[in-house]
Amino acid sequence: MLMKAPEPALVRRADFPQHFVWGVATSAFQIEGATRTDGRGPSIWDVFCQQPQAIADGSNGDVACDHYHRWMEDLDLVASLGVNAYRFSISWPRVQPLGEGAWNEAGFDFYDRILTRLQALGIQAHVTLNHWDLPQALQDKGGWEQRETCTHFVRYAREVARRFGDRITSICTHNEPWVMAVLGHEQGVFAPGLKSRARAMQVAHHLLLSHGMALKALREDGTRAEAGIVLNLSPIYPASDAPADAQKARLDDGLNTRWYVDALLLGRYPDDVVEHLGDDVPQVRDGDMALIAQPLDFLGVNYYTRNFASSGNPWDVRSTGNQVTDMGWEVYPEGLTELLCRLHRDYAVPKLLVTENGAAFKDVLRDGQVDDVDRERYLERHIAATLAARELGAPVEGYFAWSLLDNFEWASGYEKRFGLVHVDYATLQRTPKRSARWLSRFLKVD
Ligand code: FCB
Repeated sequence: MLMKAPEPALVRRADFPQHFVWGVATSAFQIEGATRTDGRGPSIWDVFCQQPQAIADGSNGDVACDHYHRWMEDLDLVASLGVNAYRFSISWPRVQPLGEGAWNEAGFDFYDRILTRLQALGIQAHVTLNHWDLPQALQDKGGWEQRETCTHFVRYAREVARRFGDRITSICTHNEPWVMAVLGHEQGVFAPGLKSRARAMQVAHHLLLSHGMALKALREDGTRAEAGIVLNLSPIYPASDAPADAQKARLDDGLNTRWYVDALLLGRYPDDVVEHLGDDVPQVRDGDMALIAQPLDFLGVNYYTRNFASSGNPWDVRSTGNQVTDMGWEVYPEGLTELLCRLHRDYAVPKLLVTENGAAFKDVLRDGQVDDVDRERYLERHIAATLAARELGAPVEGYFAWSLLDNFEWASGYEKRFGLVHVDYATLQRTPKRSARWLSRFLKVD
């Protein structure tokens, strides 16, 4: 019988240095469940899920993957992948139910158990402080629109670092400030569901400010863990040759990328965006920009796809001819290389980590197997794109696949599956997919 020759590997682990960080990523609200257990307070996502039509399948995070109770099994799954790092987030309302005042020891105990186990497994902990789940009690006082929230955030950051700083490899202040600001406060499709550009830009400023304030405080406290922030970034191309589309692409790049990266690395907001925003420009006090631009130990990049800007003509992503995932996102690994190289070239970022990369596909569990060859391909091509950026000089030191498990995909609920491990939401049974086996094979150094 004629056997089909296996496709040659695009990339090998040995192409990367020994110390390269290989991980998988999750976030608290998307996997933990146990939203009312052991003293956890409500977060803005608990409240947002109650709004009719907010979540595509009408679901919420009450049970999610029940990681709060199944963390041991989940960390064994992390270890079985052969990674040397795990990126997860701490739920602020679990450790400080009101976002100010009393700490919840039971909440800290949960993360203490996780860190202890990771240490025993020899897996680095990369911890995010804010992966979107602001305590609702702070939202009731104005949330990220209020400057006071920055002060509360700094206290929370210092407390986490004081307790866990010596067992954490890196601390990320915020995950994707653009998403929280714009999707949460301008488009209203994510928590807290507000619709005002002026408010969104004030939120964006306070997120950046609180990041800078927290970094400064952590360093003053002598925290050993590296500190940085994670941004969602995509190259943005004009949809056509029309000058209006080029202009729109430049502006979108300003709103999505330069607003954040210029502030963090150059200590200023881009002039063209400030001009465009007009009255929606946030209030910035003297000294804020210098605070925001604290030296970063690393910049985390979440990359899924590229974007197109069109000045008006409807744009169909399928016209590129490339594969499109279940989220409707084009598969475009070259964009990752381009992005990492740009951050290196234009901003001299000292260290880059790909903190999220992955894809949702319509997985089917059949006879105990999920044959997610598309995800396997996606990961391999993006790891190769990461290598290409390194070879062009970009200081990329780590790659995290999103995500360990299928989980609560925000406004899409449980309908979109990003996991390397399948979760049956009726039984909560975990089944590693073909992509999980591929990753562990890839990571086994020959
Ligand atoms: C990113 C989020 C992450 C996950 C992926 C698919 O924007 O950081 O929580 O939902 O998208």
